Amino acid sequence: MYSFSQQTFNMVATTQQYLEPILVQELQKLGATDVLKHNRAVSFNGDLSVMYKANLCTRTALKILVPFTKFRARNERDLYEEIRRIDWENYLDVDGTLAVHTSLSTDFFNHSQFVSQKTKDAIVDRFRDKFNRRPSVDIVNPQLSITVHIVRDEVSISFDSSAESLHRRGYRTEQTLAPINEVTAAGMVMLTEWDGKGAFVDPMCGSGTILIEAALYAKNIAPGLFKKHFGFMHWKNFDKKLWQTLVDEAKAAIQETDTIFMGSDKTFKAIEIARANATRAGLDEDIKLSNKRFEEVKPPQGVAGLVVMNPPYGERLPIEEIGSFYKQIGDKLKQDFDGYTAWIISSNVDALKKVGLAASQRLTLFNGPLPCKYYKFELYKGSRRKPEKEKTEKE
Ligand SMILES: C[S@@+](CC[C@H](N)C(=O)[O-])C[C@H]1O[C@@H](n2cnc3c(N)ncnc32)[C@H](O)[C@@H]1O
Repeated sequence: MYSFSQQTFNMVATTQQYLEPILVQELQKLGATDVLKHNRAVSFNGDLSVMYKANLCTRTALKILVPFTKFRARNERDLYEEIRRIDWENYLDVDGTLAVHTSLSTDFFNHSQFVSQKTKDAIVDRFRDKFNRRPSVDIVNPQLSITVHIVRDEVSISFDSSAESLHRRGYRTEQTLAPINEVTAAGMVMLTEWDGKGAFVDPMCGSGTILIEAALYAKNIAPGLFKKHFGFMHWKNFDKKLWQTLVDEAKAAIQETDTIFMGSDKTFKAIEIARANATRAGLDEDIKLSNKRFEEVKPPQGVAGLVVMNPPYGERLPIEEIGSFYKQIGDKLKQDFDGYTAWIISSNVDALKKVGLAASQRLTLFNGPLPCKYYKFELYKGSRRKPEKEKTEKE
């Protein structure tokens, strides 16, 4: 069982599928040891300072969990009894608040909400027996956020040191339709292996998420600096002085940059929203935004340039229409983005083919529940892919 007095302990950072390798690198950089990749998670060891830094600085983690105990249960009665046996009063005040989240990969339990409810019942019943009083539930800002993960009959209980998901940075309080998750956007930027220099362009920027995450990355701004609350702040072992030191170090590590960040969108509303989000992130002076169609965009010249875009996937459009839209994107890139590297994410693989350029890298990512392709195109004169017919005839 986890003890707060231990110097080094085990943690699990959760993330989105396909971002695990980036998260491994991030955690290693922060001084985590025994870093191991799993499916949608990375396990690692570290002390309190590593736990705080993982919350403050990682761009691709969703939650930093501290595994607490494990047991076997095949039915609700066993689950209830095992949970009730735990000395929760060492971690939670009788007048405190708690939240329980459950994920299931088992046939023994069917409903995650039901498991959360049983877990909560067992905890509060223990308090009621001992103190005649009980903690209450607060799902927004609890003193203790607990996760229950059940695989077959193996139940793992963890403390959630983040509480609110880390993708909720705090700067994006307004959004356009179909915004990309901040963690996905940061992962997209980091997957390009960009050095943070030159020009970064998103010509269909919507609420500005990709541009903002790119600027945070290039300026080495820790995304957790925007957040006011983390789960660990309510824990009995919260080391406020250590946390403040790490926050001060993160602020001191911010770098000025002359990178050009350029965003545009065809709708005025999107640009208004992107501007408000960039302002909340303190990046309004860094990110230049304009309300124009992609067809009119002229990218900065004479610098190494990166275009990252998340065009509409066209679920509600006829296939010919979305195909010709993606063809226009390819034509525009070819015509005006000579020397640039472009990355396009889309769930519409058929439409991506219509871009008509040879992809030099093809990655898979998720945008929310949607499986997507994330393709890299290197743009230089002559990079247009030859028509399939011509290609096979000559080769
Ligand atoms: C999927 S959304 C982008 C979401 C964005 N990544 C975010 O996080 O909010 C696609 C955006 O492309 C814009 N768009 C569509 N066609 C465009 C065009 N021809 N030129 C410029 N923007 C366009 C839409 O207005 C929309 O904001």
